[in-house]
Amino acid sequence: MTTTDNAVEQSALDQSAAATSPTASDSGASASASFRSTSQYSGAGAVTNAARVDALARALLGAVHQVILDHEVTYPEFQTAKKWLMDVGDGGEWPLFLDVFVEHAVEEVASRTQTGTKGTILGPYYLPEQVQLTSPATLPARPDEQGTPLLFRGQVTDTDGTPVPHAVLDIWQADEKGYYSGFAPDIPSGNLRGVVTTDDRGVFEISTIQPAPYQVPTDGPTGALISAAGWHPWRPAHLHLLVSAEGHRTVTTQLYFAGGEYLDSDVAEATKPELILDPTDVGDGTRQVTYDFVLERN
Ligand code: DHB
Ligand code: FE
Repeated sequence: MTTTDNAVEQSALDQSAAATSPTASDSGASASASFRSTSQYSGAGAVTNAARVDALARALLGAVHQVILDHEVTYPEFQTAKKWLMDVGDGGEWPLFLDVFVEHAVEEVASRTQTGTKGTILGPYYLPEQVQLTSPATLPARPDEQGTPLLFRGQVTDTDGTPVPHAVLDIWQADEKGYYSGFAPDIPSGNLRGVVTTDDRGVFEISTIQPAPYQVPTDGPTGALISAAGWHPWRPAHLHLLVSAEGHRTVTTQLYFAGGEYLDSDVAEATKPELILDPTDVGDGTRQVTYDFVLERN
């Protein structure tokens, strides 16, 4: 990608995040712009082997043909599907759609070789290069940020239990309405995002607020499919994390909240029992929870 492409994508990102009325298409288009400008971080362009492309494309098309034959798909249905696929592209919703409905399977494959803390999907709302903080840290928040204060602490160790000094927690989350900064309008950039370095024993303490459940935007083509199929568009409330350290395999994960809505029916199928926090009230309205991360050595 050229510098000009990056500038254009960044401007699309800024413009859709700056729009005044929150629409799904804002989040979808912003997620597309973000993916195009940051996909170098996630290995885009790695598929160059013709035999592999042949095998995957053949299997994928074969699976589609089989669905058509098994369900006796008609011409009107085929044309409806074609139009819907075009709408997803026109609305910039491919990253959003794929991360909700497909990424969990890719993550399941990746997790087969992973022995530390369980991973789960990255999702479309990661933004690199956020403010760098040192534990104990407070995530950037608006002066009147709504939501229950949450004190999140723990320690990063390796698989032998040895502390990992100066491990890094790149954390991002939705606000108390379920919106992410950089993708929804009217939220300052960098809000509820931060890159927190642990102390020399891998210990961290992060002050934030408890996020709300996230709703897949309902006014775009992804939402149209969800409602046409009679599904619900919700993900349970979650914190996103990339936990990394020199010489260790990075863990991409999310943490959920015990007793929260949609834990058993996540539209993105990305919950795991090992990733559920159970914070306790500490009296002054703050909730507190400890969660330790385990990183594999490279
Ligand atoms: C999507 C949104 C999320 O916040 C998430 O964690 C995963 C997927 C999405 O809309 O695609
Ligand atoms: Fe999310």
